[in-house]
Amino acid sequence: MTKDNKIGYAVAGLGVGKTHVESVLQYDKCKLIAVCDIAVEKIKSVTDKNPEVLGYTNFDEMLKNPEIDIISICLPSGMHAEYSVKALESGKNVLIEKPIDITVEAAMKIEKARLSTGKKVGCIYQNRNHAVMRPLKNAIDNGKLGKIFLGTFAVKWYREQSYYEGEHCWHGTWEMDGGGSLINQAIHTLDIMQWLMGEPESVTSTMSINAHKIDTEDLTASIIKFKNGATATFLSTTCCYPGLSTDIQIYGTKGSVELDADILKLWKVQGEDERDEEDMFDRYGKGNGVACAYEPGLKYGHVTQIEDMVDAVIEGRDPQITPLEAIKALKLIEAIYKSARTGETVYL
Ligand SMILES: NC(=O)c1ccc[n+]([C@@H]2O[C@H](COP(=O)([O-])OP(=O)(O)OC[C@H]3O[C@@H](n4cnc5c(N)ncnc54)[C@H](O)[C@@H]3O)[C@@H](O)[C@H]2O)c1
Repeated sequence: MTKDNKIGYAVAGLGVGKTHVESVLQYDKCKLIAVCDIAVEKIKSVTDKNPEVLGYTNFDEMLKNPEIDIISICLPSGMHAEYSVKALESGKNVLIEKPIDITVEAAMKIEKARLSTGKKVGCIYQNRNHAVMRPLKNAIDNGKLGKIFLGTFAVKWYREQSYYEGEHCWHGTWEMDGGGSLINQAIHTLDIMQWLMGEPESVTSTMSINAHKIDTEDLTASIIKFKNGATATFLSTTCCYPGLSTDIQIYGTKGSVELDADILKLWKVQGEDERDEEDMFDRYGKGNGVACAYEPGLKYGHVTQIEDMVDAVIEGRDPQITPLEAIKALKLIEAIYKSARTGETVYL
């Protein structure tokens, strides 16, 4: 806690961590105390504009600062568990970027440390807060779409070779990224798939390298069977020039909904008035910006999860996405890679 009774916040890793910094700076219940990166120029890019913020090149040194209550872990993915556990054991709460770590085994170390320290752990899957996800999740959970029998999901993105080189050479490695297009880019959509469709039972997958010089994959394709009887196809790639859609398409016996990321493309529900459908398009057909204009105060993306994390610490409750919740998509990722390697169906 800071001297002026705010939650003291720090951010480690200043790539996407800069988004965390911006969100922390605009929330009045917390105060940015420090940032940490091994790259001094990245620290300066924050501290030059915010001279009251401390800069650390050594994470362990930062842990000694008693004013820090929460640390955002925005380091390369394979470092998440080691650094989160260190922070928890030093009495800090942590908000961890996706993926929680690159293996379930490592991620479970975070859960173990959470239980033993009693500190709060949140995990980022900011796309769950896309405005259109709330009515879609409600429509599924309330049975408005009937029995869900099919989902088709495709993350058709593009990354230049340079994305995998230079200071980002950890991208597309098994050791630090844990894989390629699936674990790095498509994990958000995979998480949304299991969140909306239910508990997976089995996966049958293939993977390949098509357009990049990397160790891992730049394309995966899977058929997923769910315990509730539904089926989904899931595709991830970083090869679709120049970067195409994020298809989230769900079909139930009473209705069909199709999205491209946060943009509603189709909303057809049996028995629903056409005006209700039109209203859905007015609100959600142009993405989060327009939805937020309809509902002042509605927030989305990282800012929602950072504010939730601060509130969780103040209120002594769990944040929106706990380690066990974050691990669900990671379990699926492990199963997909295992199936692609062995050519066999993997049962979860
Ligand atoms: N939620 C999202 O939409 C989103 C978007 C991008 C990245 N991410 C995730 O965020 C994490 C970071 O990704 P990124 O794209 O920002 O990577 P990045 O390589 O751009 O940034 C990582 C930073 O960590 C720093 N770093 C490395 N080792 C360090 C150490 N020992 N101590 C302190 N700093 C150290 C690096 O200098 C670098 O600035 C990854 O897990 C990634 O999957 C999430």
